[in-house]
Amino acid sequence: MALLEVNDLERTFGGIVALDGVTFDVASGETNVIIGPNGAGKTTLFNCITGYHIPDHGTVRFQGTDITSTPDYKTARTGIRRTFQEVDVFDELTVAENISLGAFESSPREMMELLDLLDIHDKEGSELTLFERKRVSLALASEGELLLLDEVFSGLNPTEKPAMVGYLDALAERKTLMLIEHDIETAFDLADTVTILAQGQVMKRGTPEEMLDDETVREDFLGEMAI
Ligand SMILES: Nc1ncnc2c1ncn2[C@@H]1O[C@H](COP(=O)(O)OP(=O)(O)OP(=O)(O)O)[C@@H](O)[C@H]1O
Ligand SMILES: [Mg+2]
Repeated sequence: MALLEVNDLERTFGGIVALDGVTFDVASGETNVIIGPNGAGKTTLFNCITGYHIPDHGTVRFQGTDITSTPDYKTARTGIRRTFQEVDVFDELTVAENISLGAFESSPREMMELLDLLDIHDKEGSELTLFERKRVSLALASEGELLLLDEVFSGLNPTEKPAMVGYLDALAERKTLMLIEHDIETAFDLADTVTILAQGQVMKRGTPEEMLDDETVREDFLGEMAI
């Protein structure tokens, strides 16, 4: 059984069809990277999986249980956590205090260590760099079994990017990851499987190698992006 099963998801906003029959599975331990143009429906897909938005049609199953209509604060408890495109960390709280809000069942120490947050545990949110804020968000998301990460690399500088790849590699050994990523090279580096979403539909799903072997995919979606 797949960890996550998404079946025929549809979501519209007024006249805009954001998701149009999206179906795929994610296996336990898999790292699935979602790529696709702006407005493709990537964030909406995360919103529907977590229950932040309820889809108009279709189902989301997690560990075999139908969670389609389960609101996000409950799916977080059942094991689906996320980071947001806009990083949110409480400015007036320290790193350790921010992380204490994460409802960790076990000690968050291991994740703080993995993400190099122990040294800055008493730094206030307002003093953190973007990279540090992103790592706090990751620590908060890491209590889940399935982690949905929306553009965790955006805004990072060329030395921070490879460091973030290292953190995600370490997380991927422990968790199932879904990442939304615009940088194709980074996406393919991390992915076991890639999902191309465009106009609310899954255009192709497969390994990075299968994507590169597909001429249509190369021309339509990987185009000018250097690989
Ligand atoms: N809350 C909302 N209200 C109205 N329209 C929305 C809402 N959320 C998403 N949309 C629309 O749905 C479509 C898909 O948006 P979504 O944010 O899911 O795309 P995306 O693939 O994440 O894009 P980006 O790469 O720019 O983050 C867009 O046309 C967007 O304007
Ligand atoms: Mg988005």
